[in-house]
Amino acid sequence: MRGLILAGGFATRLRPLSCSKPKLLFPIVGVPLVESMARWLSSGGVDQIILAVNHLSDRLKIEVDQRVAGVTVAFSVEETPLGTAGPIRLAANLLGKDDPFFVTNGDIVSDIDIRRMLAMHEETKADATIALVSVRDPSPYGSVLTDSNGTVKKFEEKSAFFSATSLVNAGVYVLSPNIVRSIPSGRSVSLEKEVFPKLVRNGRMQAWIHNGFWYDIGRISEYVRANRELLEKQEPRAGEPEASQNGREILRPSYLGTQTRLGADSKVGPLTILSDNVTVGDEAIVRNSIVFEETSIGEKAIVEDSVIGERVVIGKESRIGHGSIIAGQLSIPGGSSVSPNSVILY
Ligand code: GDD
Ligand code: MG
Repeated sequence: MRGLILAGGFATRLRPLSCSKPKLLFPIVGVPLVESMARWLSSGGVDQIILAVNHLSDRLKIEVDQRVAGVTVAFSVEETPLGTAGPIRLAANLLGKDDPFFVTNGDIVSDIDIRRMLAMHEETKADATIALVSVRDPSPYGSVLTDSNGTVKKFEEKSAFFSATSLVNAGVYVLSPNIVRSIPSGRSVSLEKEVFPKLVRNGRMQAWIHNGFWYDIGRISEYVRANRELLEKQEPRAGEPEASQNGREILRPSYLGTQTRLGADSKVGPLTILSDNVTVGDEAIVRNSIVFEETSIGEKAIVEDSVIGERVVIGKESRIGHGSIIAGQLSIPGGSSVSPNSVILY
Protein backbone atom coordinates (compact mmCIF):
# COMPACT_ATOMS: atom_id res chain seq x y z
CA MET A 1 0.00 0.00 0.00
CA ARG A 2 1.37 3.40 -0.97
CA GLY A 3 0.95 6.78 0.63
CA LEU A 4 2.01 10.14 -0.75
CA ILE A 5 2.76 12.96 1.68
CA LEU A 6 2.45 16.50 0.31
CA ALA A 7 5.50 18.12 1.80
CA GLY A 8 6.28 21.08 -0.42
CA GLY A 9 5.14 24.64 0.14
CA PHE A 10 6.93 27.22 2.21
CA ALA A 11 5.43 26.74 5.69
CA THR A 12 5.19 30.50 6.04
CA ARG A 13 2.74 30.18 8.92
CA LEU A 14 5.36 28.33 10.93
CA ARG A 15 7.99 31.01 10.57
CA PRO A 16 10.46 31.67 12.05
CA LEU A 17 10.71 28.07 13.30
CA SER A 18 10.41 26.77 9.74
CA CYS A 19 13.24 28.96 8.43
CA SER A 20 15.81 26.41 9.51
CA LYS A 21 13.64 23.31 9.72
CA PRO A 22 11.16 21.72 7.30
CA LYS A 23 7.70 21.16 8.74
CA LEU A 24 8.04 17.38 8.50
CA LEU A 25 10.94 17.50 10.94
CA PHE A 26 9.10 19.49 13.60
CA PRO A 27 8.94 17.47 16.79
CA ILE A 28 5.52 16.26 17.89
CA VAL A 29 5.97 15.38 21.54
CA GLY A 30 9.64 14.89 20.77
CA VAL A 31 9.17 12.71 17.65
CA PRO A 32 9.77 14.21 14.17
CA LEU A 33 6.46 14.69 12.37
CA VAL A 34 7.57 12.49 9.46
CA GLU A 35 8.14 9.63 11.89
CA SER A 36 4.83 10.09 13.63
CA MET A 37 3.07 10.19 10.24
CA ALA A 38 4.95 7.08 9.10
CA ARG A 39 3.87 5.21 12.24
CA TRP A 40 0.27 6.23 11.69
CA LEU A 41 0.26 5.29 8.00
CA SER A 42 2.04 2.03 8.67
CA SER A 43 -0.50 1.06 11.34
CA GLY A 44 -3.09 1.28 8.55
CA GLY A 45 -1.15 -0.95 6.17
CA VAL A 46 0.96 1.56 4.25
CA ASP A 47 4.44 0.17 3.62
CA GLN A 48 5.76 2.71 1.15
CA ILE A 49 5.75 6.48 1.51
CA ILE A 50 6.42 8.99 -1.23
CA LEU A 51 7.47 12.40 -0.02
CA ALA A 52 6.38 15.00 -2.57
CA VAL A 53 8.79 17.90 -2.08
CA ASN A 54 10.10 20.97 -3.87
CA HIS A 55 13.72 21.48 -4.73
CA LEU A 56 13.98 23.52 -1.52
CA SER A 57 13.68 20.41 0.58
CA ASP A 58 17.36 19.40 0.48
CA ARG A 59 17.43 19.37 4.24
CA LEU A 60 14.62 16.84 4.31
CA LYS A 61 16.44 14.58 1.87
CA ILE A 62 19.50 14.63 4.06
CA GLU A 63 17.70 14.00 7.32
CA VAL A 64 15.02 11.48 6.41
CA ASP A 65 16.26 7.90 6.18
CA GLN A 66 15.22 5.48 3.45
CA ARG A 67 13.20 3.64 6.05
CA VAL A 68 11.19 5.35 8.75
CA ALA A 69 9.13 3.39 11.29
CA GLY A 70 9.39 0.28 9.10
CA VAL A 71 8.12 2.06 5.99
CA THR A 72 10.24 2.67 2.90
CA VAL A 73 10.57 6.29 1.84
CA ALA A 74 10.96 7.59 -1.71
CA PHE A 75 11.24 11.22 -2.80
CA SER A 76 9.44 12.85 -5.68
CA VAL A 77 11.02 16.24 -6.31
CA GLU A 78 9.31 19.11 -8.16
CA GLU A 79 11.38 21.65 -10.06
CA THR A 80 8.73 24.25 -9.32
CA PRO A 81 5.90 23.95 -6.80
CA LEU A 82 3.04 21.97 -8.36
CA GLY A 83 0.35 22.65 -5.76
CA THR A 84 -1.53 19.83 -4.05
CA ALA A 85 -2.58 17.79 -7.12
CA GLY A 86 0.37 18.36 -9.47
CA PRO A 87 2.71 16.31 -7.24
CA ILE A 88 0.35 13.32 -7.53
CA ARG A 89 0.58 13.45 -11.30
CA LEU A 90 4.34 13.86 -11.12
CA ALA A 91 4.61 10.74 -8.93
CA ALA A 92 2.34 8.67 -11.23
CA ASN A 93 4.98 6.01 -11.85
CA LEU A 94 5.76 5.63 -8.17
CA LEU A 95 2.06 5.31 -7.32
CA GLY A 96 1.38 2.57 -9.86
CA LYS A 97 -1.82 2.13 -11.80
CA ASP A 98 -3.48 -0.82 -10.13
CA ASP A 99 -4.35 0.01 -6.55
CA PRO A 100 -5.88 2.89 -4.65
CA PHE A 101 -3.40 4.87 -2.54
CA PHE A 102 -3.39 7.42 0.25
CA VAL A 103 -2.55 11.07 -0.06
CA THR A 104 -2.09 13.24 2.99
CA ASN A 105 -1.14 16.80 3.66
CA GLY A 106 2.26 16.94 5.29
CA ASP A 107 1.12 18.71 8.43
CA ILE A 108 -1.45 16.31 9.82
CA VAL A 109 -1.27 14.61 13.19
CA SER A 110 -4.19 12.26 13.59
CA ASP A 111 -5.40 8.76 14.36
CA ILE A 112 -7.70 8.53 11.35
CA ASP A 113 -8.41 4.84 10.80
CA ILE A 114 -7.11 4.63 7.26
CA ARG A 115 -7.67 0.89 7.07
CA ARG A 116 -11.40 1.35 7.52
CA MET A 117 -11.34 4.36 5.26
CA LEU A 118 -9.81 2.23 2.50
CA ALA A 119 -12.38 -0.51 3.07
CA MET A 120 -15.15 2.04 2.63
CA HIS A 121 -13.48 3.41 -0.48
CA GLU A 122 -13.51 -0.05 -2.01
CA GLU A 123 -17.08 -0.71 -0.95
CA THR A 124 -18.51 2.49 -2.42
CA LYS A 125 -16.27 2.33 -5.53
CA ALA A 126 -15.74 6.08 -5.33
CA ASP A 127 -12.88 7.77 -7.17
CA ALA A 128 -11.89 9.62 -4.03
CA THR A 129 -12.65 9.18 -0.34
CA ILE A 130 -11.97 12.17 1.84
CA ALA A 131 -11.61 12.16 5.62
CA LEU A 132 -13.67 14.83 7.35
CA VAL A 133 -13.39 16.30 10.81
CA SER A 134 -15.63 18.63 12.71
CA VAL A 135 -14.11 21.97 13.74
CA ARG A 136 -15.45 25.07 15.44
CA ASP A 137 -14.28 27.50 12.77
CA PRO A 138 -14.26 26.01 9.26
CA SER A 139 -12.95 29.15 7.52
CA PRO A 140 -9.23 28.17 7.34
CA TYR A 141 -10.13 24.79 5.84
CA GLY A 142 -12.02 23.16 2.99
CA SER A 143 -15.71 22.99 3.90
CA VAL A 144 -17.66 19.93 2.89
CA LEU A 145 -21.37 19.06 2.61
CA THR A 146 -22.52 15.47 2.14
CA ASP A 147 -25.85 13.73 1.60
CA SER A 148 -27.15 11.04 3.94
CA ASN A 149 -25.17 8.36 2.05
CA GLY A 150 -21.95 10.22 2.69
CA THR A 151 -21.55 11.29 -0.94
CA VAL A 152 -19.91 14.71 -1.08
CA LYS A 153 -22.27 17.31 -2.53
CA LYS A 154 -20.21 20.44 -2.07
CA PHE A 155 -16.55 21.28 -1.47
CA GLU A 156 -15.40 24.83 -1.00
CA GLU A 157 -11.87 25.80 -0.02
CA LYS A 158 -11.42 28.49 2.66
CA SER A 159 -14.87 29.83 2.25
CA ALA A 160 -15.74 32.36 4.92
CA PHE A 161 -19.40 32.10 4.00
CA PHE A 162 -19.81 28.37 4.01
CA SER A 163 -21.25 27.97 7.50
CA ALA A 164 -23.82 25.28 6.70
CA THR A 165 -21.47 22.63 8.10
CA SER A 166 -18.68 22.30 10.60
CA LEU A 167 -17.25 19.35 8.67
CA VAL A 168 -14.00 20.11 6.93
CA ASN A 169 -11.43 18.37 4.82
CA ALA A 170 -8.92 16.66 7.13
CA GLY A 171 -6.34 16.63 4.32
CA VAL A 172 -6.30 12.82 4.07
CA TYR A 173 -7.61 10.98 1.02
CA VAL A 174 -7.83 7.59 -0.66
CA LEU A 175 -7.61 8.05 -4.41
CA SER A 176 -8.24 5.57 -7.18
CA PRO A 177 -5.43 5.31 -9.71
CA ASN A 178 -7.65 6.44 -12.60
CA ILE A 179 -7.64 9.96 -11.13
CA VAL A 180 -3.92 10.39 -11.58
CA ARG A 181 -3.94 10.68 -15.37
CA SER A 182 -6.82 13.15 -15.24
CA ILE A 183 -4.61 15.66 -13.42
CA PRO A 184 -2.93 17.99 -15.94
CA SER A 185 0.85 17.58 -15.96
CA GLY A 186 3.56 20.21 -16.05
CA ARG A 187 1.76 22.93 -14.10
CA SER A 188 0.57 23.67 -10.60
CA VAL A 189 -2.83 22.07 -9.95
CA SER A 190 -4.93 22.33 -6.80
CA LEU A 191 -6.76 19.28 -5.49
CA GLU A 192 -9.07 21.52 -3.52
CA LYS A 193 -9.90 24.02 -6.24
CA GLU A 194 -9.74 21.97 -9.41
CA VAL A 195 -9.84 18.23 -8.82
CA PHE A 196 -12.34 17.92 -5.96
CA PRO A 197 -15.06 20.24 -7.34
CA LYS A 198 -15.06 18.18 -10.53
CA LEU A 199 -15.31 14.87 -8.66
CA VAL A 200 -18.14 16.33 -6.58
CA ARG A 201 -20.04 17.42 -9.68
CA ASN A 202 -19.79 13.87 -10.97
CA GLY A 203 -20.85 12.35 -7.65
CA ARG A 204 -17.54 10.46 -7.39
CA MET A 205 -16.37 11.61 -3.98
CA GLN A 206 -17.21 9.89 -0.71
CA ALA A 207 -16.75 11.14 2.86
CA TRP A 208 -15.23 9.28 5.79
CA ILE A 209 -16.08 11.00 9.06
CA HIS A 210 -13.34 10.83 11.64
CA ASN A 211 -14.08 11.20 15.34
CA GLY A 212 -10.67 10.80 16.96
CA PHE A 213 -7.98 13.43 17.28
CA TRP A 214 -6.83 15.59 14.42
CA TYR A 215 -4.50 18.57 14.10
CA ASP A 216 -3.14 20.56 11.18
CA ILE A 217 0.09 21.78 12.74
CA GLY A 218 0.70 24.29 9.94
CA ARG A 219 0.19 27.28 12.24
CA ILE A 220 2.28 27.82 15.36
CA SER A 221 -0.76 28.12 17.64
CA GLU A 222 -2.05 24.77 16.34
CA TYR A 223 1.39 23.22 16.55
CA VAL A 224 1.56 24.18 20.22
CA ARG A 225 -1.99 23.00 20.89
CA ALA A 226 -1.30 19.61 19.26
CA ASN A 227 1.80 19.08 21.39
CA ARG A 228 0.09 20.07 24.64
CA GLU A 229 -3.01 17.99 24.09
CA LEU A 230 -1.07 14.92 22.96
CA LEU A 231 1.28 15.29 25.90
CA GLU A 232 -1.66 15.42 28.30
CA LYS A 233 -3.05 12.27 26.74
CA GLN A 234 0.15 10.25 27.05
CA GLU A 235 0.47 7.62 29.70
CA PRO A 236 3.60 7.99 31.79
CA ARG A 237 6.12 6.22 29.61
CA ALA A 238 9.13 4.10 30.18
CA GLY A 239 12.10 6.41 30.29
CA GLU A 240 10.12 9.20 31.86
CA PRO A 241 11.76 10.10 35.14
CA GLU A 242 9.74 8.82 38.06
CA ALA A 243 11.01 10.96 40.82
CA SER A 244 13.08 13.98 41.50
CA GLN A 245 16.72 13.59 42.37
CA ASN A 246 19.53 15.93 43.04
CA GLY A 247 17.03 18.71 43.67
CA ARG A 248 15.70 18.38 40.11
CA GLU A 249 11.98 18.58 39.80
CA ILE A 250 10.00 17.26 36.86
CA LEU A 251 6.32 18.06 36.87
CA ARG A 252 3.99 15.95 34.73
CA PRO A 253 2.92 15.93 32.09
CA SER A 254 6.30 16.46 30.52
CA TYR A 255 8.35 14.69 27.90
CA LEU A 256 12.10 14.30 28.04
CA GLY A 257 13.86 13.09 24.91
CA THR A 258 16.89 10.86 24.89
CA GLN A 259 20.16 12.32 26.15
CA THR A 260 18.41 15.15 27.95
CA ARG A 261 20.59 16.53 30.68
CA LEU A 262 19.08 18.32 33.63
CA GLY A 263 21.31 20.31 35.96
CA ALA A 264 21.10 20.23 39.74
CA ASP A 265 18.06 21.99 41.19
CA SER A 266 16.58 22.59 37.74
CA LYS A 267 12.80 22.57 37.35
CA VAL A 268 11.06 21.21 34.27
CA GLY A 269 7.31 21.13 33.63
CA PRO A 270 4.46 20.93 33.76
CA LEU A 271 3.51 20.74 30.06
CA THR A 272 7.05 20.85 28.85
CA ILE A 273 8.60 18.96 25.96
CA LEU A 274 12.37 18.68 25.76
CA SER A 275 13.38 17.01 22.51
CA ASP A 276 16.51 14.86 22.21
CA ASN A 277 19.85 16.21 23.41
CA VAL A 278 18.50 19.22 25.28
CA THR A 279 20.53 20.52 28.19
CA VAL A 280 19.00 22.42 31.08
CA GLY A 281 21.51 24.13 33.34
CA ASP A 282 21.65 24.15 37.12
CA GLU A 283 18.73 25.95 38.76
CA ALA A 284 17.13 26.75 35.39
CA ILE A 285 13.34 26.66 35.08
CA VAL A 286 11.44 25.50 31.95
CA ARG A 287 7.66 25.54 32.16
CA ASN A 288 4.89 25.03 29.65
CA SER A 289 7.27 25.12 26.70
CA ILE A 290 8.42 23.17 23.68
CA VAL A 291 12.15 22.93 23.14
CA PHE A 292 13.53 21.51 19.89
CA GLU A 293 16.54 19.21 19.84
CA GLU A 294 20.10 20.06 20.83
CA THR A 295 19.15 23.30 22.51
CA SER A 296 20.85 24.34 25.67
CA ILE A 297 19.28 26.42 28.39
CA GLY A 298 21.83 28.05 30.63
CA GLU A 299 21.99 27.92 34.38
CA LYS A 300 19.37 29.93 36.26
CA ALA A 301 17.63 30.81 32.99
CA ILE A 302 13.82 30.89 33.01
CA VAL A 303 11.75 29.81 29.99
CA GLU A 304 7.96 29.99 30.21
CA ASP A 305 5.14 29.37 27.70
CA SER A 306 7.57 29.50 24.80
CA VAL A 307 8.72 27.56 21.77
CA ILE A 308 12.49 27.36 21.36
CA GLY A 309 13.94 26.12 18.06
CA GLU A 310 16.75 23.60 17.56
CA ARG A 311 20.36 24.22 18.53
CA VAL A 312 19.54 27.42 20.37
CA VAL A 313 21.82 28.55 23.16
CA ILE A 314 20.09 30.46 25.92
CA GLY A 315 22.70 32.14 28.04
CA LYS A 316 22.72 31.85 31.80
CA GLU A 317 20.29 33.89 33.86
CA SER A 318 18.32 34.86 30.76
CA ARG A 319 14.60 35.16 31.04
CA ILE A 320 12.36 34.24 28.11
CA GLY A 321 8.94 35.80 28.57
CA HIS A 322 5.57 34.14 28.09
CA GLY A 323 4.49 33.42 24.55
CA SER A 324 7.89 33.90 22.92
CA ILE A 325 9.21 32.04 19.91
CA ILE A 326 12.91 31.75 19.24
CA ALA A 327 14.07 30.57 15.82
CA GLY A 328 16.50 27.68 15.54
CA GLN A 329 20.27 28.06 15.84
CA LEU A 330 20.25 31.41 17.64
CA SER A 331 22.20 32.45 20.70
CA ILE A 332 20.61 34.53 23.40
CA PRO A 333 23.36 36.20 25.42
CA GLY A 334 23.51 35.55 29.16
CA GLY A 335 21.45 37.88 31.33
CA SER A 336 19.03 38.79 28.50
CA SER A 337 15.46 39.56 29.23
CA VAL A 338 13.17 38.71 26.34
CA SER A 339 9.82 40.41 26.77
CA PRO A 340 6.61 38.41 26.54
CA ASN A 341 5.30 37.44 23.09
CA SER A 342 8.62 38.17 21.36
CA VAL A 343 9.52 36.46 18.11
CA ILE A 344 13.27 36.28 17.70
CA LEU A 345 14.87 35.47 14.37
CA TYR A 346 18.09 36.26 12.61
N1 GDD B 1 4.73 18.97 -2.93
C1 GDD B 1 4.02 20.08 -2.72
N2 GDD B 1 4.06 21.07 -3.66
N3 GDD B 1 3.31 20.20 -1.58
C2 GDD B 1 2.62 21.35 -1.39
C3 GDD B 1 2.62 22.41 -2.32
C4 GDD B 1 3.40 22.25 -3.53
O1 GDD B 1 3.45 23.12 -4.40
N4 GDD B 1 1.85 23.40 -1.82
C5 GDD B 1 1.38 22.97 -0.64
N5 GDD B 1 1.86 21.73 -0.37
C6 GDD B 1 1.58 20.91 0.82
C7 GDD B 1 1.85 21.61 2.11
O2 GDD B 1 3.17 21.37 2.58
C8 GDD B 1 0.85 20.94 3.05
O3 GDD B 1 1.39 19.77 3.63
C9 GDD B 1 -0.29 20.55 2.14
O4 GDD B 1 0.20 20.62 0.80
C10 GDD B 1 -1.51 21.46 2.28
O5 GDD B 1 -1.11 22.80 2.19
P1 GDD B 1 -1.40 23.83 3.35
O6 GDD B 1 -0.78 25.11 2.96
O7 GDD B 1 -1.05 23.27 4.67
O8 GDD B 1 -2.98 23.99 3.20
P2 GDD B 1 -4.04 24.40 4.31
O9 GDD B 1 -3.70 23.82 5.62
O10 GDD B 1 -4.21 25.87 4.26
O11 GDD B 1 -5.38 23.71 3.73
C11 GDD B 1 -5.36 22.35 3.37
O12 GDD B 1 -5.43 21.52 4.52
C12 GDD B 1 -6.65 21.64 5.29
C13 GDD B 1 -6.59 20.62 6.41
O13 GDD B 1 -5.49 20.83 7.18
C14 GDD B 1 -6.55 22.07 2.43
O14 GDD B 1 -6.40 20.76 1.94
C15 GDD B 1 -7.88 22.23 3.17
O15 GDD B 1 -8.94 21.84 2.33
C16 GDD B 1 -7.88 21.35 4.42
O16 GDD B 1 -9.09 21.56 5.17
MG1 MG C 1 -2.09 22.85 6.49
